[in-house]
This record gives sequence, C-alpha cells and structure tokens, in this order.
Amino acid sequence: MRALEISNRELLAFMSEATNFAAEYWASLEERPSYPSTSGSETARLFDRPWSGEGRGSKVLDDVRVIAEHVRPCTGRFFGYVAGSGEPVGAVGDFLTSVFNQNTTSWRSAPAAITIERAVIGWLAEAIGCGGFAGSLCGGGSMANLMGLAIAREKALAANEEGARPGVVYASEQVHMSIPKAIALLGLGRSNLRLIPVDADFRLRTDALEAAIASDRKFGNTPVAIVASVGAVATGAIDPLRQIAEIAKSEGIWLHVDGAFGVLAALAVPEKFEGLNLADSISLDAHKWLYQPIDCGCLLYRDRDAARKTFSHSGDYVRVFNQDPGEAFAFFEESIELSRRFRALKLWLSLQYHGREAYREAISRDLLHAQLLADAVRARPELELLAPVPLSAVCFRHRVKSNEAILQRVIARGRVYLSNASINGHFALRACFVNHRTEPANVYEIVSEVIAAADELNA
Ligand SMILES: Cc1ncc(COP(=O)(O)O)c(C=O)c1O
Repeated sequence: MRALEISNRELLAFMSEATNFAAEYWASLEERPSYPSTSGSETARLFDRPWSGEGRGSKVLDDVRVIAEHVRPCTGRFFGYVAGSGEPVGAVGDFLTSVFNQNTTSWRSAPAAITIERAVIGWLAEAIGCGGFAGSLCGGGSMANLMGLAIAREKALAANEEGARPGVVYASEQVHMSIPKAIALLGLGRSNLRLIPVDADFRLRTDALEAAIASDRKFGNTPVAIVASVGAVATGAIDPLRQIAEIAKSEGIWLHVDGAFGVLAALAVPEKFEGLNLADSISLDAHKWLYQPIDCGCLLYRDRDAARKTFSHSGDYVRVFNQDPGEAFAFFEESIELSRRFRALKLWLSLQYHGREAYREAISRDLLHAQLLADAVRARPELELLAPVPLSAVCFRHRVKSNEAILQRVIARGRVYLSNASINGHFALRACFVNHRTEPANVYEIVSEVIAAADELNA
C-alpha cells in the first residue's frame, strides 16, 4: 500500500463511525451544558501531545468523544456573543466541500464551485434587498470588513492628489472591533478612526458625523469611508442608513455597512433596513444569522471595478486564457484570498434543503425571543433593561447585585450562557439570539438562571 492510502472498506467504516458520532452528538445537544466544565490545564493535559510516529488508524476517533466533552456545544441555550448555531445540513456541506477539495480561485480551477458561489452571492444580495450587488464569500465579518475598507481606501487614494493627508474613517462609538483592526492593517493609522457619538438608541448621530467630516475637510484630511453598523454588536442598534447614505453621497465618501451581526434579519423585517441598497459595500455573516457552520462571511459591493482595482494583482502563473466571460472569471481578482474553500456548497445545500421560508421563520423566532426576554426582564423589579431591542441582542442588569459576579455564576451553573457588554457605564448581561435551536422555554431560563445566580451570591 502507498503511504496515506486507505482501502475503501476501511474508509467507509471510518466515515460511518464519524457520521454516527455526529448524529448522536447533534441529538444529545440539549442534554449538554451550555458551556463545558473544563480548564486550560485540563485541555492541555488531554490534547497537547507530540505527533506520533506510527499511525493510530481509526483509533483517532476515540479522541473525538473526548473532544466532545471539552467543546462549547451549540445548544439552544447558548446566548453569548453573536454565535450561530451550526445547522447540520450546512455541516454536511462543509464535509463535501473538503471531499471535492476545489480551489475556488478561478472558473478554470473550479468550474461548478465558482458558478455556485456566484449564484449564492446573488441569492444573499437579493435576500437583503440589494439585488445586483456582486461579492465573494470569506472567512467571516472581520475579513469582509477589511476587504470593504480596502476597496474604499483604494478608491479614495486614486481620487487624491499626491501628498494628500492621511485618510480618515467615520464610525459610531458602538462599532465592532474589527473596524479599528482593519484601519490599522490598511495603514490608515489608528488615530484616523473618528468615533462618532450615538443617540439614546445607540445609533450614530448624523449631525456629529457631518461636523466631523467638515472639520477633517478644513484640516485637509481625506475622508475614506463611513461605516454604518447594522446591528451594532452590543445592542443591535441600526444606524440611520438613509441619512448616512445621503451624507456619503453628497460628500463623495464610500459607505460601508457592517452587517455582520444584523443585516440578514432583512429577510424577516426588511422595513428596518431601509436605505441599505444605497451602500457601496456590505459585510454579512452567514455563520451568524443564517446559522451556518463557521466559516461563512461575505462581502457584497455595488462596483465590481472598484473591487478589481483593489485586488487584481495577477501573476503570469494564474493568467486566464479563455475569453468566454463566464470562464474568465476569477475570485482572486476581487478578494484578498487566492486559495479559497468551496464555502458556497454548504449554503447551496442548506438554503435549498430548508427553503427561504424556513430561514425567514427562524430569524423571526429569534427576533421574537429577544422581545420575550425584554418583556420578562421588564416584569422583574430587580432587573433593568439597559437598551432598546431593535434586533436580537438584549442588554440588562441586576439592579442590586454585582452583575460581573452574576455572569460568572450563570456560566458556572452551565444551564445558559450569556456574555457581557458595557452600556452607559453599566456592566450589562447580554443575551443574543441567532440560534435556530432556541425554544421560548430557554428564553425564560435566562431570567430564572440570573435570579438563581444572584440568590447564590447571598448564600
Ligand atoms: C457587528 C460585527 N461586525 C463584525 C464582526 C466580526 O465577525 P467575525 O467574527 O465573523 O469575524 C462581528 C462579530 O460578532 C460583529 O458582531
């Protein structure tokens, strides 16, 4: 036998053990704790080991059962961060992606994969009311934000005379950390992010935005982009898109929408996203509110030429000879990556398996769960809702006890998982619903677990 070769029989047995495990694991999710009771030293003891010289064969699957006890399960009771729930058909798609092992660079390298990714991009754009936008899939929202701002920067630099002052980016104080990171990576300089104050609903204040742009123009600084948050990470606030788009247009500034958390809710509540189609670029995350397994981010943009001017640096070794427009297409001309997974396959399978209506319904349920929690919090005198709930993030606090201590107790109890946010100087308990497994009973558990944890602090 050649090195690395596996007989068909062995492979089938190995796969069937793995798929049996997967099915049992998914079926057991609701019995599992919302967070594993493990520690850094315990996982190091179990998994930090040298690479064995001799192969262990199918015995390696024994490790998978141990791993399962030390991962964070995708239960319907996990409400931390913006954590999608890992839809199983998508997971099967991920497996098949690796089976096909397509390098989704250009049509020549991966004909069907390229065509399917372009089709899926069209579905996503159309689903959020931005039909006609082009784009590409990528690892996640951070990468999509980086690429969106890279295009904006390229465009602004091209329009500028030499020696122009550094480019500035405008975003609300509530912006996600991936935006300052992108600005730093693009060499725009950390101090060139203007954090614009927000109103009482945590939405970017357009009067302050206009003032900041005017002040930069006065000092000869070059505006590069305005970032509107559509679903700010802490509260889900949706910046006033139409007004921001009008400012961007009249000032000639690129409008990038960070929709990694919230924009896919446009499938269920399009009226909340009025003006979205005026953006120049939009990031979104199918591994958040389309419940797909990580990684599945996406950048959409209106102007493909702008993307090509930014990312097209072809070498001779990738020259496309075929002039048929469909066959000449290459994602490396429009994105950072060259080697790319066939990410679209999981979306292609999962979105069609369930159909659009099921996705719309799942998102509507998440929105409803957030309102149920907000109502349940309002009904408890010892709790206080700290921010409006425009989408599916709910920030609240216990009025008397230490909320930091409550959070630690809630996580240790293992029934529900919450994360935290800072709201008007308060330490907030934060629950976010982007989880197709959550039931209304799980929502009420959040309140009972917080109250139980607060009571334990007395004991
Ligand atoms: C508003 C927002 N933008 C960007 C990101 C980054 O996305 P990713 O984790 O996929 O890189 C997140 C992640 O939660 C987010 O909530």
